Amino acid sequence: ITRQFSCSSAVQSAIKNVTVIGGGLMGSGIAQVAAQAGQNVTLVDVNGDILAKAQKSIGNNLGRVAKKMYKDNPQEGEKFVSEAMGRIKTATDPVSGSQTADLVVEAIVENIDIKHQLFQKLDQVAPDHTIFASNTSSLSVNEIGAVVKRKDKFGGLHFFNPVPVMRLLEVVRGAETSETTYRSMMDWGKALGKTCITCKDTPGFVVNRLLVPYIAEAIRLFERGDASAEDIDIAMKLGAGYPMGPLELADYVGLDTNKFILDGWHKKYPDQQLFKPIPLLNKLVSEGKLGVKTGEGFYKYEKK
Ligand code: NAI
Repeated sequence: ITRQFSCSSAVQSAIKNVTVIGGGLMGSGIAQVAAQAGQNVTLVDVNGDILAKAQKSIGNNLGRVAKKMYKDNPQEGEKFVSEAMGRIKTATDPVSGSQTADLVVEAIVENIDIKHQLFQKLDQVAPDHTIFASNTSSLSVNEIGAVVKRKDKFGGLHFFNPVPVMRLLEVVRGAETSETTYRSMMDWGKALGKTCITCKDTPGFVVNRLLVPYIAEAIRLFERGDASAEDIDIAMKLGAGYPMGPLELADYVGLDTNKFILDGWHKKYPDQQLFKPIPLLNKLVSEGKLGVKTGEGFYKYEKK
């Protein structure tokens, strides 16, 4: 995979103040790219230790970006890092961060009830003009936004892991997202240096709607004994030109995450064959074999 860091582009965004809620894997990445693009960022997490960790990892990542961008001018590089870091404030209370926000991006745990509680609270405290967006991977943007009054200012901004590296942003138009909100979200994504695509609120949007059933089919193929794991992965790398095979990718994403998404969709769409549970996947997850992060999934890894 060619690793390319996205950086701010020439596109201007009317959004200057962004609050990112959830300082984990995704939220910290979103905060980083927004700060890099000159936005004032408030990063919120209920867990203060996570915020400290996020700040540290953002600092390290920015240091790497600076090394590449300012190869011959380390002083400029240091300035770039300290200015970007200076644009990130942190808070443990979502309310405090949201009173000055033009945009709130939610990247908390993938649980509809918890997301509802958060947005209900935010809807009461954020200014009228503030746009709300969820970074959900597998839930419905319309369902998440059902609890807010400002449905015209609600949409999806679906980033990819690792956020500073992956160039795509899926901009999701909910049933009631206004044209103005949609355009603001697109301009904001472009200002962050992302390539934005548009999708309606459909399970998995574009990428995961294609990727999750593809991975599921690869697991079923392996489960039936039609080919070995290695051969399935070699086949898709050399035959389809994919940088990773589907089972390698499943291990990288985490088998628990794959199962979580499939189970959620199966519950909602029980007739869709592609979302049916996979006994082998369930077995691996129940054995704690979750992929790279636990040292074993379809393959064995050195524990990190
Ligand atoms: P994570 O577990 O790394 O981070 C979630 C963070 O949210 C945690 O730090 C937790 O303390 C915090 N949190 C939980 N409830 C909160 C609340 N009520 N208020 C404030 N903070 C709260 O999770 P990750 O992977 O960053 O995922 C976050 C969201 O992004 C999920 O909706 C997920 O579906 C989505 N997503 C994940 C991707 C991935 O590859 N991991 C890719 C694209 C989207």
